[in-house]
Amino acid sequence: MKRIVCLISGRGSNLAAILRTAESERWATEIPAAVVAVISNRADAAGLAVAAAHGVPAAVLEHQSFASREQFDARLAEAIEAHRADLVVLAGFMRVLGGAFVNRFCGRLVNVHPSLLPAFPGLATHRRALAAGVRVHGATVHFVSGDVDGGAIIAQAALGVLPEDNEETLAARVLQREHVLLPRCVRWLCEGRVALQNGRVVTRDLAADHLALLG
Ligand code: GRF
Repeated sequence: MKRIVCLISGRGSNLAAILRTAESERWATEIPAAVVAVISNRADAAGLAVAAAHGVPAAVLEHQSFASREQFDARLAEAIEAHRADLVVLAGFMRVLGGAFVNRFCGRLVNVHPSLLPAFPGLATHRRALAAGVRVHGATVHFVSGDVDGGAIIAQAALGVLPEDNEETLAARVLQREHVLLPRCVRWLCEGRVALQNGRVVTRDLAADHLALLG
């Protein structure tokens, strides 16, 4: 059984998507995976209520209470290891993790990012996509590396940018795709169908079109 720990900072809609999928696909019974804990770096994260609603233990570890990034990261790593996590999912975790943390969890740390990486790493991705005039935009699930939003790409969901789109409409459509893409990737990781080997993503029993959601 793969033990998943989700890290959040806010709304928690991606967490909700994972937990809904886990329930509807009967993870733990049919699939060797279970979300065993949620950790938020913010006490006011709405996602904490999502965890509670699904009966998943949640904890708050506020980064402001630590003197340095390294100290926060070290405490966070301990909290994750206490749950014997096989997989750590950054589900809207809005805090950069330092090199020591990333190395410690290398190959079992994934993130969802609201753009087609390597385009638009960082914040305000939808605004920047609109400003750049791109016709295709989307979301990426990737392994986390030392470069922010720069790790090996697992899968992407693409959608067309409409002439009438604004930041809100585009964000909403991308988010819907994230909610499909992320639970799917988490499941594949737990099934051993996706892994990181020597810095590259390797897959087993996955058609190429599984990894690219188009339209
Ligand atoms: C998502 O758009 C995700 O891609 C980004 O932060 C947002 C989190 O949303 N990293 P939510 O908390 O999952 O609703």
